[in-house]
Amino acid sequence: MSNPSLLILPGDGIGQEVMAEVRRVIDWFGAKRDIHFDVSEDLVGGAAYDKHGTPLHDDTMAKAQEVDAVLLGAVGGPAYDDLDFSVKPERGLLRLRKEMDLFANLRPAQCFDALADFSSLKKELVAGLDIMIVRELTSGVYFGEPRGIHMEDNMRVGINTQRYTEAEIERGARAAFDMAMKRSKKLCSMEKANVMESGILWRDVVTEVHADYPEVELSHMYADNGAMQLVRAPKQFDVIYTDNLFGDILSDCAAMLTGSLGMLPSASLGAPMANGRPKAMYEPVHGSAPDITGQGKANPIACILSFAMALRYSFDQGDEAARIEAAIEKVLADGVRTGDLLGDEDTVGVSTSGMTDAILAA
Ligand code: NAI
Ligand code: MG
Repeated sequence: MSNPSLLILPGDGIGQEVMAEVRRVIDWFGAKRDIHFDVSEDLVGGAAYDKHGTPLHDDTMAKAQEVDAVLLGAVGGPAYDDLDFSVKPERGLLRLRKEMDLFANLRPAQCFDALADFSSLKKELVAGLDIMIVRELTSGVYFGEPRGIHMEDNMRVGINTQRYTEAEIERGARAAFDMAMKRSKKLCSMEKANVMESGILWRDVVTEVHADYPEVELSHMYADNGAMQLVRAPKQFDVIYTDNLFGDILSDCAAMLTGSLGMLPSASLGAPMANGRPKAMYEPVHGSAPDITGQGKANPIACILSFAMALRYSFDQGDEAARIEAAIEKVLADGVRTGDLLGDEDTVGVSTSGMTDAILAA
């Protein structure tokens, strides 16, 4: 059987630097664990614009559709800020998500004990925190029609429409229940069924899907209360399923409970392909960090943890993913820090590659 295939799209700025470290991790798995991938690499974002005049070449899009998983670094940077909207680096990322139909965005919020002091919350509230937010990514108010700004009675009116079909709610719900089955079998669905019809439908459909997952303990919560509960007692949650807008906000909120942007991975999954694996793209939450690009300061952990998510969710290698996470836990406990984890401007931590050295050694 041929090796599973990975398409690597480093993108711009520190995307290129952290992805170089992921390649070292991939090579380590080949050498030490006899786990091999067919890796190809291509351009996205500003890097693709520089070469092709578009943030995502059609050939790259076609490749992304064929591989078992895409790993993306980050896109954008000041050099591209003045480009026309149609060719902005972010458009490359959005096109990938849209054409691959990646409807389930997985955003873990996991607190490594050694970093619990970094949280804006009290240490005991976040130590050991491990939650997973499943955000519907391809529908809802960011896409619904009608939309726009128009004149009405001599006044400008801005419109966006929250629109969900039951099929859209259902496929995301199945992804969330599947996730709950792989974790502690606890799922909390969040909407605003008290004031939004789309929220009523959301609650109904999630309840219907629950019939297929009797082992999972399902609860419902209004999203505003969810926000309160996340900062009050985040450890009450395991998997959270919510819509595009609420998920955008709640996942950023939950993630920041755990520390630095340089630590946060994500995955976006679509429908199963012919081989049973879901369409998938894995990427760190952070951007291209122009302020530290080219200085060897970027924390590679978010990107390395994104690869760990690929091992777990695309390649059924949960034990190997845990191997990476345990190594990261150890190096953090040993005090190894990139600059973003030090908090003190005057202290110099290890470099990007130095962090990877430590992780591979562990
Ligand atoms: P950013 O995430 O690039 O940086 C925010 C701050 O966090 C900066 O001070 C940066 O140095 C720091 N930081 C981020 N990742 C880090 C890491 N791995 N290690 C150490 N420090 C890290 O967000 P910002 O500055 O708002 O955007 C910069 C560019 O990135 C923009 O062009 C933006 O459009 C793009 N961007 C791209 C994203 C993506 O590709 N998914 C997501 C967010 C922003
Ligand atoms: Mg956001």
